[in-house]
Amino acid sequence: MTRLADKVAIVTGSGNGMGRAMATLFAANGAAVAVTDVSEQDGAETVRLIEEAGGRASFWHVDVSDEAEVSSVFEQVSATFGKIDILVNNAGIAGVDKPTDEVTEAEWDAVFAVDVKGVFFCTKHVIGHLRANGGGSIVNISSIYGLVGSHEMAPYHAAKGAVTIMTKKDAATYGRDRIRVNSVHPGTILTPFVRELAERSEGGLRGYLDIMEPKHPIGHVGEPEDVANAVLFLASDEARFVHGAALVVDGGYTAV
Ligand SMILES: NC(=O)c1ccc[n+]([C@@H]2O[C@H](COP(=O)([O-])OP(=O)(O)OC[C@H]3O[C@@H](n4cnc5c(N)ncnc54)[C@H](O)[C@@H]3O)[C@@H](O)[C@H]2O)c1
Repeated sequence: MTRLADKVAIVTGSGNGMGRAMATLFAANGAAVAVTDVSEQDGAETVRLIEEAGGRASFWHVDVSDEAEVSSVFEQVSATFGKIDILVNNAGIAGVDKPTDEVTEAEWDAVFAVDVKGVFFCTKHVIGHLRANGGGSIVNISSIYGLVGSHEMAPYHAAKGAVTIMTKKDAATYGRDRIRVNSVHPGTILTPFVRELAERSEGGLRGYLDIMEPKHPIGHVGEPEDVANAVLFLASDEARFVHGAALVVDGGYTAV
């Protein structure tokens, strides 16, 4: 598969979960992948999986909330692979599961530091590289909770809503530079982390699925690969006229 032949991609938070699925799928499609994460161990494992499958990848430690580290690593990625074509702003945290009136300022700021400022810093510091390259693709991983409300996680909703509108704003600005910017909005995705949480919950994995599956009209929750396939399309030249879009990958969650 060569849908990303000769492309260089940075995927933030690709040590685990959906980011790992994106990084491995990108590499399988011919991209050289900069695997970045706060976990060196998880990042190294993603690189190992890619190399084992015959792909090309390197790991860099990046905390997306650290502007200096983001800027420095993006320079290193460009120097190592020769250019940057694709950025996936995937790293994100859920934060506290509280209603607005119970959230502390510190809890609010912790989510915004990663989920909002992280997207800001990475976008800010990739633009010059994409311009130098004559264009590129930025994919921001928001959430269904960046489109609709729920009873869960107040700061996360606000943060993912910010990512939704940052995407449209940056699409309006950077289209002239041939830099496409789109967002992806996953429903419930059974990443290893979510699966582990579900298994440890009172009703176990089955109990968790009994609650979550009916919320997705397609009848089941998603897998990391479901999101990775959508992101692959947006990252690739097949999506050359797709710009400023909010692509839901949610089994119909937001359709009802
Ligand atoms: N899993 C879901 O159901 C779901 C649904 C909608 C949206 N999302 C979003 O998808 C994205 C990926 O989620 P996931 O479920 O794969 O998460 P995950 O927790 O499985 O993986 C996230 C990765 O990001 C890394 N990370 C955490 N903080 C970081 C930071 N400051 N800098 C760099 N890396 C950092 C973690 O080490 C981890 O490897 C997130 O933005 C999340 O909000 C997830």
